[in-house]
Amino acid sequence: MSIDTHQSGETHPARPRARALIAGNWKMNKLPSEAAAWLRELQAALPAGAASGGSAKAELLVLVPFTHLPGMAKLAFGTGIGVGAQDVSSHASGAYTGEVAGPMLRDAGATYVIVGHSERRAYHHEDDTLVNAKVKAATAAGLVPILCVGESRAERDAGAASTVVLAQLAGALEGLDLANPAALVVAYEPVWAIGTGLTATADDAQEMSAVIRDALRERYGAVGDEVRVLYGGSMKPSNAAELMSKPDIDGGLIGGASLAVSDLLAIAEAAA
Ligand code: PGA
Repeated sequence: MSIDTHQSGETHPARPRARALIAGNWKMNKLPSEAAAWLRELQAALPAGAASGGSAKAELLVLVPFTHLPGMAKLAFGTGIGVGAQDVSSHASGAYTGEVAGPMLRDAGATYVIVGHSERRAYHHEDDTLVNAKVKAATAAGLVPILCVGESRAERDAGAASTVVLAQLAGALEGLDLANPAALVVAYEPVWAIGTGLTATADDAQEMSAVIRDALRERYGAVGDEVRVLYGGSMKPSNAAELMSKPDIDGGLIGGASLAVSDLLAIAEAAA
C-alpha cells in the first residue's frame, strides 16, 4: 500500500483513484471547421475499442468555444471523447444578453464546463461569489464543473499560495453538496504557469494538490478522496508523466498543448 506524505506531515492511506481525466482547453482558438478535422484526427489515432471512453488509460475531454459545441458534440457522439464548454452563466435563463446558460450547454451536448479559469478571473473580473454561483448553475444543469484555482507569482513568492488557493476553493464550493465524486473536478492552475512555458515542479504541484485534497476531504469526507484534482499550466508531453505520477494529481487541464492531437495523445499516454 502506498502512503503519501503531506505538507502538514500527516500521512494518508492510499485513496481510491478514478481514471485520469485529460482535458484540453482550447481557449479562443480554432474555427469550427478546423475543430472537426482535429476530432477526426484524434479519433483515427485512438486504439480500436476505445469507444467506451477515449483512451484506455485516461478519459479524454475537449473544452471548446460555444460556437463549436453542437457540431463537436455530434461528431464526438459514441467515440468516448467528451465535449465541454469554457464558461457558463450563473443564471439559468432570462434577459442576460451574451450569456450562455447551463441548460443550453447541456442541450448542445456538453458534459463538463470550466468555471473560474484565471483568465476569466483576470479579464472578466470574476470573483469567488460569481464563481460559486457558476459552479451551482453548472451542477443544476447536470454539467460537471472543472473548478480552476491557483495563485499568482507574487502570491507564491509571498508564501501565500496555499492560503489563496484554499480561499478560492472555500468561496467556490460554499453551499455545494456533493454526494458523487464524479460530479466535481478541481484544477490546480498556478497563474504564473499558464501559457508561459513555466511549469510548477511536480513536487510543488503535488504539495498544492494535497492541500486541495485535504480541503475536499474536510468538506466532503470520503467523497473528497475521489474527486479528481488536475494540474494545469504548461503541461506538455515532456512533463506530463512526472506530474501525473504524483499521488494527488489525477490528470491535466491542457491549453496550448491540446491544440495538436499528437501532443494531447502523448499526454494521455503519460497518464499513469
Ligand atoms: P496552458 O493553459 O497549458 O497553455 O498553460 C492551461 C490552462 O489555461 O488551462
